[in-house]
Amino acid sequence: MILHDRISDILPSWRTRVNRLVNEYRDFKVCDVTVSQIYQGIRGVQIQVADISYVDPYEGIRLRGYTIPEVLEKLPRMDGCEFPMAGGLYYLLMTDEMPDFDKAMQVEDEWKKHAELPDHVISMIHSMPRTTHPMTLFSQGILALQTESEFTRRYNDGLTKADYWIPTLDDSIRLTAKLPSLAAFIYNWKYRDGAMIMPDPNLDWSANFAYMVENPNNHEYEELCRLFFLLHSDHEGANVSAHTAHLVNSALSDIYLTSSAAMNGLAGPLHGLANQECLRWLLKVYNSFDALPSKEEMAMFARKELQSGRVIPGYGHAVLRTTDPRFTAQYEFARKYLPEDELYQLVCRVYEVLPDVLKETGKVKNPYPNVDAINGTLQYHYGVREFDFYTVLFGVSRIMGITAHSVWARALNKPIERPKSLTTAMLEERVAGKPDTIEVEL
Ligand SMILES: CC(C)(COP(=O)(O)OP(=O)(O)OC[C@H]1O[C@@H](n2cnc3c(N)ncnc32)[C@H](O)[C@@H]1OP(=O)(O)O)[C@@H](O)C(=O)NCCC(=O)NCCS
Repeated sequence: MILHDRISDILPSWRTRVNRLVNEYRDFKVCDVTVSQIYQGIRGVQIQVADISYVDPYEGIRLRGYTIPEVLEKLPRMDGCEFPMAGGLYYLLMTDEMPDFDKAMQVEDEWKKHAELPDHVISMIHSMPRTTHPMTLFSQGILALQTESEFTRRYNDGLTKADYWIPTLDDSIRLTAKLPSLAAFIYNWKYRDGAMIMPDPNLDWSANFAYMVENPNNHEYEELCRLFFLLHSDHEGANVSAHTAHLVNSALSDIYLTSSAAMNGLAGPLHGLANQECLRWLLKVYNSFDALPSKEEMAMFARKELQSGRVIPGYGHAVLRTTDPRFTAQYEFARKYLPEDELYQLVCRVYEVLPDVLKETGKVKNPYPNVDAINGTLQYHYGVREFDFYTVLFGVSRIMGITAHSVWARALNKPIERPKSLTTAMLEERVAGKPDTIEVEL
């Protein structure tokens, strides 16, 4: 398989680089941690090395070194398609190399072989109450697929450490192959008549989701899916879902256990659930005016929201200090495909006004839109109006990044993650200049 071959070729030089850092620079200091960082979510502390992507505060995400516009320009696409195939992106994330058309197609073809859901996953979801949150069903579905884990089977048979990454990669391909089918099945079962639609072998991975949920505006929605699944695939190694995945994977839990755990983090309102809040807020603005608000009306509305202590969803970011390029890419999509959409026009108006209003507060570090400021608007336009499903779409994409991180963590033999905690009393003694009464055990 193409990903095995390529990773086998490049792995020796990666192992040499990592071993050199660990052995020759053992005591080199990267970061000192302050009390406020300990108490405030370890914010800004560089705690791991993750090569799949990096969020530059002023440029946004770089996937394997490529900015979003570069990724969209350089990845191969099928004839007649505006946006690239996810198979090419997966090749890039896994191998650190921009694929040609043939390589991207080989990943897509491998996915097609494994796209079908096993019966027990379908019956497990059927046994759940229909009111279950779609992220719970998605996480459960991934966990139920764990019965197929090659890593677990081969580990139990005595797999050698240097080869851990190989069945981890096999599991990753098989899991990611099924994600559009799993998401579409959950969508159809929860919100429609429950029809089980099989993927179309003539379509690429992203477009197949659009096909399986039978979107009435299929061609445009296929393009949106291609774009959406590319944009959300990774956002560095230390956000909640990526870090959860890293931690769970470090215990040699297989890719199914790892990805399900990551999805439970993504399901939190401070992480992946934020996109539904943004659309809710936009609809609130929309319903507060008879027509598109003027700039002055919009600014007054936003100031009132801020004065009543609310945050403006879709604006601000913990790391970014500029407009999120993932917002810009979808903004351009909307300008081309749905310029007359009233919610999109409202997104534009908010974008014209909000940064200056947020700057007036003097405290918002990034007054610009993040990806969630537009995500929901596009899904809403194409009839996917079940807000609680949006995080599942995010998850389908994000597992590409999560599995790429996991394969490389196994390939480079990253050990179990085990930082150290200390007690409040110990910290009080340290800040008072007293030596620790308990010896730190490493
Ligand atoms: C994303 C977010 C959580 C980042 O938080 P952060 O790193 O603490 O952001 P900042 O350092 O800029 O926050 C400084 C202050 O500005 C406020 N602030 C930041 N973004 C704001 C926004 N969009 N609206 C109103 N106030 C905001 C913070 O609440 C904080 O106020 P406080 O000091 O009174 O607690 C924050 O910007 C936010 O809540 N945004 C809206 C929700 C959202 O879009 N989430 C999706 C993120 S991808």
